[in-house]
Amino acid sequence: YLMKGVKQLYEKGHLQTVPKKYILPASDRPTKSVEDPNADNQNLQLPIIDFAELLGPNRPKALQSLANACEQYGFFQLVNHCISDDVVRSMVDVSGRFFDLPFEERSKYMTSDMRAPVRYGTSFSQTKDTVLCWRDFLKFLCHPFPDFHSHWPSSPLDFRKVVATYAEETKHLYLVVMEAILESLGIIEGKESEEENILKEFDNGSQMMVLNFYPPCPQPDLTLGIPPHSDYGFLTLLLQDQVEGLQIQFQDKWLTVQPIPNAFVINVGDHLEIFSNGRYKSVLHRAVVNEAKSRVSVASFHSLPFNFMVRPSPKLIDEANPKRYMDTDFDSFLAYVSTKEPNKKDFLNSRK
Ligand code: SIN
Ligand code: FE2
Repeated sequence: YLMKGVKQLYEKGHLQTVPKKYILPASDRPTKSVEDPNADNQNLQLPIIDFAELLGPNRPKALQSLANACEQYGFFQLVNHCISDDVVRSMVDVSGRFFDLPFEERSKYMTSDMRAPVRYGTSFSQTKDTVLCWRDFLKFLCHPFPDFHSHWPSSPLDFRKVVATYAEETKHLYLVVMEAILESLGIIEGKESEEENILKEFDNGSQMMVLNFYPPCPQPDLTLGIPPHSDYGFLTLLLQDQVEGLQIQFQDKWLTVQPIPNAFVINVGDHLEIFSNGRYKSVLHRAVVNEAKSRVSVASFHSLPFNFMVRPSPKLIDEANPKRYMDTDFDSFLAYVSTKEPNKKDFLNSRK
């Protein structure tokens, strides 16, 4: 049977408690910050990368900061980027308005077909998860897709227009950031490089968008919006509204990423970790929920084309840096990254 989603549950339920199927085993629950002896350190100031610095005369220094962030945190916040405040705000706004639509309108996109070009879902898998998550999402393909617009929701009325602009601009931003990352790894050497081919591959890569909605939760300590996972692709560009919720694992602790207005939270995915031969880290992260406010986030996932080999770049392998991951094709890679998420990295590392 199809779930109606947690938004509908929240609105119709007059909930005082979290229904049983959302309650995590005690060991998997988010610990309350008041119980943490280091509660002061709960809020993580992620490295901040200034996009303008990256494109200006200070590029070498900015590339170094970028490399440090990807090595130590697997995450950074990008400020001063080329996407206007207006485009960013409209995207968060239209996402919120999509989830505000009547249930009948949202339910048009509810399907258990994981391959549907547009899918409204809840949890990771409505049918397979043993414990459900306090999140609804709308997931859709942006690129490559011959006429994706016709599949996207046509309501709210400005949805397609806002999303099309946002998707195009985030794709462009991704390419510029990816170029900087390749340069920071020493794979390409600045603008005039002859390595145009690899950048073309990135240009041809896939882009997937996920709009997340986390309703308020009567018992936020018992459940999660998204359980710990790492992202499978190259880079994820995430917008969050001003409500906290994203936490990343840093030195064995869960730390909250402070929202910065209009900034992107960017993280390294599994494919980039492998491509960098383990130098850049694909880090576990999760979303917690809260009693008071609903939260919206917009994730744009960028990968290489689906037929691309998954392997460390030959340029990053030498005597001092032996190859740490075996070559694999994209289908087998996807098959095992979509298995049990938290254990996936052990599995990747065992495949040398
Ligand atoms: C995600 O991990 O995909 C989203 C996390 C968030 O909503 O902040
Ligand atoms: Fe994620």
